[in-house]
Amino acid sequence: MDEILVKGGRPLHGEVSVSGAKNAALPMIAATILTGGRFVLRNVPDLKDIETICQLLAGLGASAKFEDNTAVIDTTGLFQHEAPYDLVRKMRASVLVLGPLLARMGRARVSLPGGCAIGARPINMHLEGLEKLGASIKLEHGYVEAKAKKLQGGEIFFDIPTVTGTENIMMAATLAKGTTVIRNAAKEPEIIALAEMLNRMGADIRDAGSTVITIHGVEGLSPVEAHIIGDRIEAGTFMVAAALTKGKIRLTGADPAHIKPVIHKLRECGAFVDADDEGITVQGADVIQSVDVKTLPYPGFPTDMQAQFMVLMSVANGLSVISESIFENRFIHVSELLRMGADITISGNHAMVKGVSRLSGAPVMATDLRASASLVLAGLVAENTTRISRIYHLDRGYEAIEKKFAAMGAIIKRVSAG
Ligand code: EPU
Repeated sequence: MDEILVKGGRPLHGEVSVSGAKNAALPMIAATILTGGRFVLRNVPDLKDIETICQLLAGLGASAKFEDNTAVIDTTGLFQHEAPYDLVRKMRASVLVLGPLLARMGRARVSLPGGCAIGARPINMHLEGLEKLGASIKLEHGYVEAKAKKLQGGEIFFDIPTVTGTENIMMAATLAKGTTVIRNAAKEPEIIALAEMLNRMGADIRDAGSTVITIHGVEGLSPVEAHIIGDRIEAGTFMVAAALTKGKIRLTGADPAHIKPVIHKLRECGAFVDADDEGITVQGADVIQSVDVKTLPYPGFPTDMQAQFMVLMSVANGLSVISESIFENRFIHVSELLRMGADITISGNHAMVKGVSRLSGAPVMATDLRASASLVLAGLVAENTTRISRIYHLDRGYEAIEKKFAAMGAIIKRVSAG
């Protein structure tokens, strides 16, 4: 299994190109299920999760080829309606095929994802939403069995804004008879990107990106070509790295409008951030001031940036309170950061982070994607060498992360641990 070795102490400098967003690409690939034909998706990140969803589509009878960040997907011959446990357990977002399969095939059998390292992550709201559209849902042998001859429009009220839940219902409703209204919908840029693709396919979705999305069902959809938006979380991770190492970097390929809360917090703690149409420049300050952070649904501070920001706060001047309000167990990076010398106390969903003057390199490992990214960041400022194992988590969501950091001057390499 591969590991990453980072020797800390080098400020990052230079330019980095942000890859396409994993969490935009996954639903857009799932959306190809809705109709038969050839889709071309560009700027798709080369990641394990993309490989998994392409395997899932191949198992359904579609062809999915991936080369040079372009996915060519032909769903003409799609004939299966099952997402098996072996793929769903690798990637929870596999549940995104549920809505499109049901809409196109009239039935779907999708393994229940189960819990994951960051929380229980139920899919009850996806299922209740589909029931509101007239689907019959049964849970049997660890699988969701959904059936509907023809979905009907309906009104859905989410208790909590759910990102993949909103995407699933939006996709299913495109081919339903009549109008669907999703209230308390999630508003993430990835949802807008998906709605734009679906509308170009012929769907009639209004107000995606607001809390109330209206979908007028249409008779049929056609394949399209689409471009994946830049990854706001990868961008945020690099921005925090620049502030943390007191370097100066320029990012291209990400939309600053999608990363406003991170930009705001970085400025609050003293970093210089300048954004224009061409890119985002971040320059670290000599002293990082502690600030409090609370994760919230978009446009609030993203939970997917919480672990990385905590590393910044762990070497800041003062005390920071970081509150996680989306997932119940998303502090799994804390015990590893403590081993690197951080001073963090957890109380419920709050982490009290007292800035220390230095972190020290150590062998560490993480059990989820963003936690792994935070350990790479910690390694960039720690004394001596940090060895990060279980980096398959990192490979699920960051394209060539060590190469990108190395190109900005970090001493970082991937090694095979045998
Ligand atoms: N929830 C329920 N019931 C549901 C659905 C969600 O209780 O039916 C709860 C969740 O347990 C959580 C909250 O609602 O407490 C919000 O979860 P959400 O459904 O929005 O999360 P998700 O759609 O499963 C997506 C991203 C995650 C990101 C979250 C929050 C994708 C493929 N995944 O997950 O990304 O953390 O939204 O922004 O879009 C990552 O990329 O590392 C990642 C975990």
